[in-house]
This record gives sequence, C-alpha cells and structure tokens, in this order.
Amino acid sequence: MQNLEELKASITAIKDEILKGAADLKNSKEVYEFKKNFLDPKVGKISQLMKGVKDIPGEMRADFGKGVNELKNWAGERFNEMDEKMKAAEAKLRYESEKIDVTMPATHSMKGYLHPVTQIRNRVIDIFASMGFEVVETREIENDYYNFTALNTPQDHPARDMQDTFYLSPEFLLATQTSAAQIHTMEKKKPPIKMVAAPGKVFRSDDDATHSPMFHQIEGLVVDKKITLCDLQGMLDVLVANLFGEGTKTRLRPSYFPFTEPSVEVDVSCFECGGKGCRLCKGTGWIEVLGAGIVNRKVLENCNIDPDEYSGLAFGCGLERLAMLKYGINNIKMLYESDLRVLEQIDDK
Ligand code: PHE
Repeated sequence: MQNLEELKASITAIKDEILKGAADLKNSKEVYEFKKNFLDPKVGKISQLMKGVKDIPGEMRADFGKGVNELKNWAGERFNEMDEKMKAAEAKLRYESEKIDVTMPATHSMKGYLHPVTQIRNRVIDIFASMGFEVVETREIENDYYNFTALNTPQDHPARDMQDTFYLSPEFLLATQTSAAQIHTMEKKKPPIKMVAAPGKVFRSDDDATHSPMFHQIEGLVVDKKITLCDLQGMLDVLVANLFGEGTKTRLRPSYFPFTEPSVEVDVSCFECGGKGCRLCKGTGWIEVLGAGIVNRKVLENCNIDPDEYSGLAFGCGLERLAMLKYGINNIKMLYESDLRVLEQIDDK
C-alpha cells in the first residue's frame, strides 16, 4: 500500500521524465510518439495513473486525484506547445526549400505559326465568308474535262499553252488552276451561287523567283441574275482593303481567259507608296494581283445554266503572290524553305 508521499513522487517522476525527454525531441513526429507514452488513453503513464485513482483509499484519493489531474493538464499544454513549435519550424523549412526565384530567366519555348500561305488563305476565306460565300473544296487531280474542256478550252485551243500542264495520263492531270471548282459547283448547284474554293493546290511546269511548280489559288464564283463586272469590282475592293489596308483600290484591265468574257486582270493600287510609284509597283502605282471576268456563256451552258437568265463572275488569285506582297517576300522559294528565321516574322493576327 503506497502512502501519499510515494504517490506524489510518482507524479513528480513523470513530470521529470517529460521535461528531460522533451529536450531530445527533434520533430513533430517524435513529439507525437513521445506524447503517447504519457497520454495514450490505454497505455499512457498518466492515463494509467488516472485509472488508479479510484482504488486509492478515501482521504488520499482527493489529493492524489487533484495532483494527477494537474499533471495531465500540464502535460497536455507542454505537448501542445512542443507540437506548435516543431510544426512552425518544419513549415519554415518547407517554405525555404520550396522558395521560387522569380528573377530567374524563363526557359524559352518555341511557338508554332501558321504558314504564311495558310494565314492568307484563312483571311481571304474569312472575308468572302463574311459576304455570304460558301467554301467548297478543290481537287489536286482533275481530268481533262474539268480542268480545260468544260472551261471552254478544248484540246486544240491555243490557251492550253498558257499553262504548262503535268499530265498523269492522257485523261488525268495535276490541276493547273482552281477554275475546275466552278464546273463542279455549277454541276451540283443551281443559281444563286456564291462560293470560294480552297485549299487550292495547283501545279504548273514553271520555276523561277516568282513561280513555283506547286502553288495555291483561291477561286471565287458568283452566279445569279444580272451579275456584272461592277459586282466583281465591289467585292474585290472589299478584299484588297481588308488585305492591304483601308483605301487600297482595284483597277480592271482587259485580259483574256477562255472561260470568262470579258476577262480582266485586276491590279491593286500600290499600298507601299499609295500610288506615287516605287520599287514594289515598278513605278506604276499599281500591282497585278489576280485574274477574273464574267463567266463565259459557253461555260454556263456546259453546266446547264441558261446564260440568258443568269450571269456570273469568277476570279482566281495566287495565294503565294498575295503572301509575298503582304509580307514583303521577294522570292517565292522563301515560302517553301521552312527557314524559321523567315516564318517566325510572319504572324498575322
Ligand atoms: N484560272 C485563271 C488562272 O489560273 C484565273 C482566273 C480564274 C481567271 C477565274 C478568270 C476567272 O490564271
């Protein structure tokens, strides 16, 4: 049977053990483990003492109970303090290790760009789409009928020499122009028609600083009642003002294409010098950009459209040419060399 002195000594011993042990604790996990030795409800030394209180004889029980209670509160506070201190130190360490140096130079990541020809094509399509044109697809391989004959260019027609054709067989060829899209469209649809054709890859046996054997065109076709050259010029004025800047105008010059009558060559007023004459426009104030005209009656007839009831306008422009003019590129090959120093400069947003 223990006396009160011995009981109180066991309280003091636990207190000492806590104070001594606390000095060696290095982190919050150790605090947690150490705390269990004393306050774990089942095995903790203080919890054991608490459980023993009920067995202490009457007069000592109150005294001892009070002492154990005080010990429990004191220990709880000490462990809380230790835990807070450790956690604060640990958080500080973590912040230090996760610190970001915002002054460090960023790593350079490469940005992709759409090809200049694609940028121009998207722009031209957007402009015509905003005027209510539908977009149809062009073909890379056509047969003789669509590329030439239906476009009023029969076998022995001298205009066939205008385009040096890559033949795949006597019947099939690589499209030399996007104009076949006119025929495909008019065969499928009756007027009113308003279409632009893309992607427009075409091929000609031609190769110098301004020509490439493969290049791109955009074809446009409008067929309705009473379509005239004025409609053509009005639409093209919208196109060039948007592409080359407000105030850029078009000029129509007589020309010849078998599938249009009359045919015109379309010039834009020089957007570099404003028409005064410079190197870009070779001193003339005007730059040739595309071919166009009023759809030849024979072409409408070939597609079973009555030329007395309907008339049409058509135009076809080279996208490389537009890209070269717009972005100041003087050799068409630069568009195909994939030299990033050139392509990176062209981001037409
Ligand atoms: N297809 C002609 C060319 O490639 C351009 C053009 C299209 C002309 C439509 C008139 C009408 O040169």
